[in-house]
Order: sequence, then C-alpha cells, then structure tokens
Amino acid sequence: MRESTILDNLQLVKSIDRSSMLSSCVEAPKHYAEAAELARNVTVGFKKPRMIMVAGMGGSAIGGELLRDWARDRIEVPVEVCRDYSLPAYADKNALVFVSSYSGETEETLSILADALKRKCMIVCISSGGKLMEVAQRLRLPHVKVTSGMAPRAALPYMFMPMLTILQKMGLTSEADSEISETVKVLRQLVIENLPEVETINNFSKRLATGIEGTSPAIYGFGIYRSVAQRLKTQFNENSKTPAKWECFPELNHNEIVGWETAGEFSKWFSVIFIRDAEEPVEIRQRIETTKEILGKSKLKLFEVQSRGKSNLAKMASVICTGDFTSVYLAVLRGIDPTPVETITLLKQKLKQTGAKEKTIRELQKFK
Ligand code: F6R
Repeated sequence: MRESTILDNLQLVKSIDRSSMLSSCVEAPKHYAEAAELARNVTVGFKKPRMIMVAGMGGSAIGGELLRDWARDRIEVPVEVCRDYSLPAYADKNALVFVSSYSGETEETLSILADALKRKCMIVCISSGGKLMEVAQRLRLPHVKVTSGMAPRAALPYMFMPMLTILQKMGLTSEADSEISETVKVLRQLVIENLPEVETINNFSKRLATGIEGTSPAIYGFGIYRSVAQRLKTQFNENSKTPAKWECFPELNHNEIVGWETAGEFSKWFSVIFIRDAEEPVEIRQRIETTKEILGKSKLKLFEVQSRGKSNLAKMASVICTGDFTSVYLAVLRGIDPTPVETITLLKQKLKQTGAKEKTIRELQKFK
C-alpha cells in the first residue's frame, strides 16, 4: 500500500518532516509535566476575579479554549477567550486577563495588553519572550516565561498548563495537580503506540491519516471536546496544510447535518472524525450514533477517535496528542513539511507595513 510505504519509511519521514514536528508530538508527556511546573514560582497576589479572560491568537489562544472547557463544571468564575484587538465592555478591574502570545509579538495580543492596562485588569502574561515579556518586566506584571524555539502550536502545553497552575495557586481550583500525573501517564502510552517506528498496521494515527488523505476533515466534538475538535481542525490546517472544519454536538444536529443532505458526489471529498469518550453522556451517545447512521448513507468517510484516561485533562490531552500525530503523518503523506506556515508569515509581513503594531507598541511605552 502506497501510504504505509511512505509512513513506515523512517528516512523518508525525516526528510519530509525537516524541522521535526514529530518530535514535539513524541515529547508531549514531558512538555505537559514541565509546563505545569513553570508557573509555580510566579507570584500572583490578586483577589478572586469575577471573570477570567484568555487573550491570544491561533496556537496561543487554543489553550484558553481548553481552559474554558476544562473549567466549565469546576470553576464558578466564567472563562472567556478573546481573539481580538480589545476586550469586551464588561472587562474591568475584576477581570483576570491572561495575555498569551508564544512569540510575544502578536499585534492583536499586544493591543489587548494595552487595553487591559487601561482598564486596570488583573494581568498575567505568558510568552517565550518578545515585546510582551519586555513590557511585563518593565511594568512588573506577573509573566510566565515559556521554553523558546518551538512553533507556537507545538508549545500548546506550555501556553495552557501555567494557567491551570495559576488558577490553583489563586484557590480557584484544586483539581489541576491530581490530573497532571494521570495525563502524563496516559500520554506516555499513547506516544509509544503512535511512534513513527510503529508500522501503520498497528499505529492508529498513521491509519487515521491514511483514511482521511484526499479529503477535508470535519471534526465533531461535544462537551470538553469542543475545544479539542477546534485544536484538531487547526492542526490539520497548519501541519497538514489542508482545509478542515469543526463542529460540536448537540448543535451540529440542528444545522450542520442538513448541509450533507444533497451533497451527493461532493461528499466524497470530506471525512468526519467523531471524538468519542467511553463515559460520554447517554444523550450524546445516542446523538452520535444516530448522526453516524444518517451520514453513513452519504459518501462521507467516517472515523472515530477515542479519548483515554479518567480525568478531563487526560481525556482532552489524549485526543489532542492523537490529532497532532495524525496531522503530521497526513503532512508526510502529502509530501509537505508540517512546520513552516508560510501563509501566516507572509500575512504578518504584509500587515507590518500598516504600522498598526508599531502604534500599539508606542501606546504600551506610555504606561509607567
Ligand atoms: C503558529 C501558530 C499560529 C500562532 C499565531 C499567534 O505555529 O500556531 O497560529 O500561534 O499566529 O502567534 P503567537 O502564538 O506567537 O502569539
């Protein structure tokens, strides 16, 4: 089979995955463990916030989505993700704002920092360096410095886990620590099973990549897997360089499914990946099964990814890890290096000429 000939040829895989995105998948357990420790010594003397906002873009925003889903049934303070230039009207001094940018150089995120400073929010910055770190140090804002030299999306554990540690330090949750050790254990086993050395026949991620090749995948999540579905979608975009979409149960039963009704031959260009959980609520299970039955009559290719572990963190991280591996193997099958994101780089270069970021930097310099 052509796919296994490519994916099981380690030399070939390495020559395509030149910057080794695969190694960040392999090192995921280590990254989660290290990332959880990063914020332990960061001092945050804030009172209990009325709301938590995570401001960031792309790979630095998805950690906020994960936090939102993880916190939904445990933290009584609302969590919101802000992917924009400014905060919503209700963000004031009672809002805890995580300003998250891996590079520390993202125009929109720096603009949110200026806005959060104006509104006197409680601010915690997370970056590997850049302007964000510079301003945080000058203004003595709490700053979590994460390991540098990675692609922002590969640094997801580093952008996500420090927020859990900080919320635990602030007394908003007590569950983070207990979930981390299980997560690391679950990920270690998952990595062993999906290593590039493991042949396609025994390697779930390689088989999934083979199955969806030539289609545009739609990832369907529910509950805590809403953000996870979104993460998988963006990894297929950035690593595999392929269009993808994500949706969520039960909402997708009220619109999305109708879109496939008359898709006919067109549907053969798409696949659907259902995220499953051995403990999924019965009403969701029935919806997924019924949706699969209906969509099974079309030409769509249907797949499932099963989560692992007991805790929400382990469950979410296990599907993310499977998706990360799959997106890299899909890139390899397509003969594309997963790491460079040339279109994003080009866009950022072009937008530099507008001067918007420079204007924000000048504004930030005025804060004392
Ligand atoms: C690149 C990636 C992008 C960036 C985004 C924001 O790997 O995933 O989505 O995360 O362009 O840049 P940062 O994360 O540096 O603020």
